[in-house]
Amino acid sequence: EIGAIADSHGINVYLIGGIVRDFLLNRLNEDIDLVVEGDGISFAHTIREQLGGQIKTHEQFATATWTTPTNIKLDIVTCRTEYYDAPAALPTVRASNIREDLRRRDFSINALALQINKSDFGKLLDFFQGQEDMDNKEIRILHNLSFIEDPTRIVRAIRFALRFDYTLAKQTEELALNASYLLKQVSATRFLREIQLLINEETIIRGVKLLDSLHVWQSLFNLKPTIESLMKLEQVIAYHFNDAFIVILTLNYGQHNWKQKVKRYSLTTKQNQLIQQLEAMQTVPLSKNETMSSIHNRYHMFKEDTILLYTILTENTLLRNYVEKREQLKPLLTGQDLLMQGIKPGPIFSDILHQLTCFQLDNEIINRNDALTWLQ
Ligand code: CTP
Repeated sequence: EIGAIADSHGINVYLIGGIVRDFLLNRLNEDIDLVVEGDGISFAHTIREQLGGQIKTHEQFATATWTTPTNIKLDIVTCRTEYYDAPAALPTVRASNIREDLRRRDFSINALALQINKSDFGKLLDFFQGQEDMDNKEIRILHNLSFIEDPTRIVRAIRFALRFDYTLAKQTEELALNASYLLKQVSATRFLREIQLLINEETIIRGVKLLDSLHVWQSLFNLKPTIESLMKLEQVIAYHFNDAFIVILTLNYGQHNWKQKVKRYSLTTKQNQLIQQLEAMQTVPLSKNETMSSIHNRYHMFKEDTILLYTILTENTLLRNYVEKREQLKPLLTGQDLLMQGIKPGPIFSDILHQLTCFQLDNEIINRNDALTWLQ
């Protein structure tokens, strides 16, 4: 239907991006992106008038989102060319034709379009050997300046390579290596977003290694991930610290000036607090024969998952035992029990319960009866 409407208005419309790639690779993809040679927004209005549903327009980007009457979302965009005024900057946009629109994209496998005009339905546009690269299982950029214009594509290249089990084409790999120093100029938000996507695909460990082979960590943090730091990272992920900032932190932790290095990547108050807490923990080292209650007295004010992260980063088994024990601990008494003993509510409540936790941690009180006796 969309194809017929496009025909009657004399404009070309194509399916584009990930959905075309995934269609050819027999993979599921539900992000439907349409690109229009012409005015995408007015085409979206026409579609809505003739087929119903709703549209939301984003004038600034010359794009619209059409929600069909059956509640499927489609993004409709205008063919465009992007100009990069400076390396690693965000691009300026200008309307153009389909070939130009495809040429500005990252990799050949992402630069395929499928025409949906009724007259040319299903015609595949492949100006940049996308299908050939799929056959050869290669990620290839479309022009030599691609990584210079957008260095985040270096991380994207690794992500797609890992996702499809492809390799980077030789020249693409060399250009990525040469451009990795430019990642320093990319905003922390954009870099973290790309790292987050590697985490979401569960390819972070291999991703970190491949990014290392392209000197990304070297350029950003003057750092070479060691086997030990990768093992820590594996544990961090296994404990569901699925956050890009924590990956950056883990790789850097313990290095000279680690705090300064990761500072630029701590964007939220929570992330800043995490850095502060890790630092604070560093200043209270534990001795080997410390009791659980004495550890508790010094660490109870820290959040449990922060302590857990710290134990992984510092490989401190004593602290790990403490975290595990504290996690399993069941409260033996409640506020109600204290009231029943005639204790008046107030700060004393938490003092008593804290003391009880200490006894429990040291196995001096192990059941409710003992706790009640102790309370009396
Ligand atoms: N793109 C690009 N350069 C970037 C980001 C995106 O050229 N730095 C282009 C790619 O050609 C991609 C399209 O914009 O096909 C849409 O981007 P995105 O949604 O991130 O990519 P998908 O291919 O849809 O990836 P995914 O399958 O992970 O959703």
